Amino acid sequence: MIEGFRFLPEYFSPAQQRALVMVVLGLLEENPVYRGAMPRTGKPLSVRNTNLGPLGWVSDIKGYRYQPLHPETGKAWPAIPDMLMDLWRDVANYAAPPQACLVNWYEAGSRLGLHIDADETARDAPVVSVSLGSRALFRLGGLERTSPTSSMRLASGDVVILGGQARRAYHGVDRIYPESSTLVPGGGRINLTLRRVTAP
Ligand code: SIN
Ligand code: FE2
Repeated sequence: MIEGFRFLPEYFSPAQQRALVMVVLGLLEENPVYRGAMPRTGKPLSVRNTNLGPLGWVSDIKGYRYQPLHPETGKAWPAIPDMLMDLWRDVANYAAPPQACLVNWYEAGSRLGLHIDADETARDAPVVSVSLGSRALFRLGGLERTSPTSSMRLASGDVVILGGQARRAYHGVDRIYPESSTLVPGGGRINLTLRRVTAP
């Protein structure tokens, strides 16, 4: 396994998972998930997303970027909830707070192709990822697209940290198992990734 990858299974208890999902679902009422598009081709993304925090990651035909406003509502993203700020303080080992929490909403059939998280200039900060709801088949590779990969299932409450070398490792989600949880409406999966975008 590549250096800097950490897996914290069941970091959040079932009661904490329920509390976190309630908070996130509440925030999505005014800050809904929307369907972004691939740069250049404009092909719709399989996963819908939105963001929390001062900056949010967006993808559209013009490219990938971070911006302070939701592209459909034009409103600022809501603040990152305390439970997630506490998580960052507990596990990130990074002096500055996260600036973006990307909310990825997977439904049956959603997938996320192999990619590197490379749109942040704070290259030394880890990406901290929380899984809620249905299990996912997560694939982790190496620094090259052709590096060997290994797959693991991520369950609700699990936390994954991509730091060190793993910060620039290819990763993706091949599928979710929509029957595996009822926590997220529709048997979906919510993945939350905390990111530091700019160098402090
Ligand atoms: C991501 O790479 O942005 C999300 C990973 C996941 O859904 O587990
Ligand atoms: Fe990613």
